[in-house]
Amino acid sequence: MGCNRNCGLIAGAVIGAVLAVFGGILMPVGDMLIEKTIKKESVLEEGTIAFKNWVKAGANVYRQFWIFDVQNPEEVAVNSSKIKVKQRGPYTYRVRYLAKDIISQDSKTHTVSFQRPKGAIFEPSLSVGTENDTFTVLNLAVAATPHLYPSTFVQIILNVFIKNSNSFMFQKRTLKELLWGYKDPFLSSVPYSIPTTVGVFYPYNNTADGVYKVFNGKDDISKVARIDTYKGKKHLSYWPSYCGMINGTDGATFPPFIEKNRVLQFFSADICRSFYAVFGAEINLKGIPVYRFVLPSRIFASPLQNPDNHCFCTEKIISKGCTLYGVLDISKCKEGKPVYISLPHFLHASPEIAELIEGLSPNEEEHSTYLDVEPITGFTLQFAQRMQINILVKPAKNIVALKDLKHNYLVPILWLNEYNNTADGVYKVFNGKDDISKVARIDTYKGKK
Ligand SMILES: *[C@@H]1O[C@H](CO)[C@@H](O)[C@H](O)[C@H]1NC(C)=O
Ligand SMILES: *[C@@H]1O[C@H](CO)[C@@H](O)[C@H](O)[C@H]1NC(C)=O
Ligand SMILES: *[C@@H]1O[C@H](CO)[C@@H](O)[C@H](O)[C@H]1NC(C)=O
Ligand SMILES: *[C@@H]1O[C@H](CO)[C@@H](O)[C@H](O)[C@H]1NC(C)=O
Ligand SMILES: *[C@@H]1O[C@H](CO)[C@@H](O)[C@H](O)[C@H]1NC(C)=O
Repeated sequence: MGCNRNCGLIAGAVIGAVLAVFGGILMPVGDMLIEKTIKKESVLEEGTIAFKNWVKAGANVYRQFWIFDVQNPEEVAVNSSKIKVKQRGPYTYRVRYLAKDIISQDSKTHTVSFQRPKGAIFEPSLSVGTENDTFTVLNLAVAATPHLYPSTFVQIILNVFIKNSNSFMFQKRTLKELLWGYKDPFLSSVPYSIPTTVGVFYPYNNTADGVYKVFNGKDDISKVARIDTYKGKKHLSYWPSYCGMINGTDGATFPPFIEKNRVLQFFSADICRSFYAVFGAEINLKGIPVYRFVLPSRIFASPLQNPDNHCFCTEKIISKGCTLYGVLDISKCKEGKPVYISLPHFLHASPEIAELIEGLSPNEEEHSTYLDVEPITGFTLQFAQRMQINILVKPAKNIVALKDLKHNYLVPILWLNEYNNTADGVYKVFNGKDDISKVARIDTYKGKK
């Protein structure tokens, strides 16, 4: 879910530097000198604090995965029973450690263009097992076949290859295979040149996300880090109307001087859409007051409840003609593969959506998404971005592996939590307002003197 990727952040030594230059955390925002400094240091150009942290996140960012291990694969395939799942995790990877790849800076339009190289390093000490742990999960290639090849004739032919390769509705895969890719036996046996590697995040290694073009804020600080274009476009082709607008930043930073009534907009390439977050609470983060912005549940509402969402309802099966809520069909953004995004355990979704799945227990605390933003600088200091990846499986009478199904199943594959973890502590420094000789002096480090 991209913030899943997007929420880079500031931490440790960087926040120390930021606060030192910006005059500490307790200053009133009205102060002209400080305001000027912040505006200057927030511009995304060589030499500013914001730029340094923006190029490469100051803290570690991790992505945790929980895999839904299917307990009764035979029973589902043969008797079309409810799917019993047991989540296993977390399996943790360190992500976003690679610096942004700056392509160009344009001083006329005040923009920066860049790509984000992808990388993930397994962290055994933050995981319940190894990358070799195996799970019973949906067979992604088999499940996608009726969607990608609606023709009866093609399905009858492909069915032969599915049978001959011993492929079923479910399969056993290691964590590493499921996430990063494996050679699928069914697809490999088809004698046409089609892609044969499958994986939830494949292709990932040695790829980059972008190109992004963002405003550097030099002419107008209220535009800083706002995305102008993504892959050369201002609008995503797979959503009609304003649903396809690319709004806001990538979530890692926002323009400075954030008021509680602001709606923070950000775009997530992983989830293929723009989002917004609204003020939820004031939080004290190790001595720094931050605003917690949360995704309001109306984002996941049906168009009946929230007419603004009508252009996100592009499918009729799972949503029962757009009357159910809580899942987003992103197949158009995933080359036609029947991928649906939701909150983990179908939090905030219609109860009917999870009717055929047993073993889920949604709760706000573990499964919601938030951003803790330092209001003066606009930096996201802490965040948790959570989402679940589901695949729609339709009964298909021409495909033996799916012929006994009596329902459309929205099968949860995994859920993930991308979150920060500061490598270093938080510094609290004096702003020098009462006594200029103290300016930028460290008061506490990790809350201690
Ligand atoms: C399917 O249902 C039948 C009848 O209830 C039962 O006997 C059989 O064991 C079930 N098959 C599987 C694979 O669970
Ligand atoms: C892809 O990257 C992951 C995470 O770094 C690594 O575990 C895996 O071995 C890589 N896969 C391939 C096929 O290189
Ligand atoms: C995982 O399996 C591979 C191949 O069988 C093996 O080389 C590797 O050592 C295993 N890793 C762990 C952590 O068990
Ligand atoms: C993008 O922003 C515009 C203007 O604020 C808003 O009308 C539109 O609904 C937003 N789109 C999304 C997908 O959030
Ligand atoms: C993110 O960083 C903050 C600030 O140091 C820390 O308090 C918080 O625990 C971190 N969040 C997570 C989920 O590790």
